[in-house]
Amino acid sequence: CHVALLKGGFSAERDVSLASGAACAEALRKAGYRVTEIDVTRDIPALISQLQESKASVVFNALHGQWGEDGCVQGLLELLSIPYTHSKVLSSALAMHKERAKAMVEQVGVRVPESKSIQATDLAAGDPLPRPYVIKPLSEGSSVGVHIVFEGDNHVATTREDLGFSGDIMVERYIPGRELTVAVMGDKPLAVTELSPKEGFYDYEAKYTEGKTDHIIPAPIPEAIYQEALDAALKSHQVLGCSGVSRSDFRYDDTANGDNKLYYLETNTQPGMTDLSLVPEQAKHIGISFSELCSWMVQEALG
Ligand code: DAL
Ligand code: MG
Repeated sequence: CHVALLKGGFSAERDVSLASGAACAEALRKAGYRVTEIDVTRDIPALISQLQESKASVVFNALHGQWGEDGCVQGLLELLSIPYTHSKVLSSALAMHKERAKAMVEQVGVRVPESKSIQATDLAAGDPLPRPYVIKPLSEGSSVGVHIVFEGDNHVATTREDLGFSGDIMVERYIPGRELTVAVMGDKPLAVTELSPKEGFYDYEAKYTEGKTDHIIPAPIPEAIYQEALDAALKSHQVLGCSGVSRSDFRYDDTANGDNKLYYLETNTQPGMTDLSLVPEQAKHIGISFSELCSWMVQEALG
């Protein structure tokens, strides 16, 4: 079976996608697939020609972020009638919009932190939510542009320059405590991993620098919260209509004054797929190798 693998792209997560793409291409070759790697740039006519010339029977989408994860490239593949891995147009677009995704997930009984969309000028007018809160892009990944505003902070980002991203802005109540994540493969949540950054929060650097974050699997949390996280990830995957593999992120507030509750943050329809990434790690934890995981994704896409 001949697979065209899309990697790179032109979002803020281009480098992450190049790493995911390289790892998945190697895993697929190991599993016996013929793989044509396509580095996606802004030249969309070139992408269409490369896809058509490759005559590949399926696309492995290793893109992250805008254009690759938000339904755009998925729409192009639909028009070209090429089957592809991961979520389809509507669920990709919904999951990428963190507010719409939370509204849907809340409808199936999953707890979410309160949030709202604002303009950059609203920040200059004062705190848009009681502190502590998080300022984040409505539609980006890998914690690009995420700022946490704590009680006593006197330098708060109030301009586009301070924020370091363009596009829509969301502010969300900050949930203290622990960071958890759950991968879903088809109709099965795999495990709960706790991400414990050695310093600061689980930002871009903590995510992609080896040794900066401990991945604890299975997460050492109460059994009831563990089960709730598995269940919430599956419900989110299903209500958003995701396909193949997704990964949902949560916070669990077990701090001294906390409420001991689990909160859903978002679903990633194109989760990181490098050797060090969380989805391959959870698959391995339950006995599925990286090659088997990538093969399953291709076979699932082929129906
Ligand atoms: N957005 C990155 C790739 C992730 O969620 O893994
Ligand atoms: Mg994300």
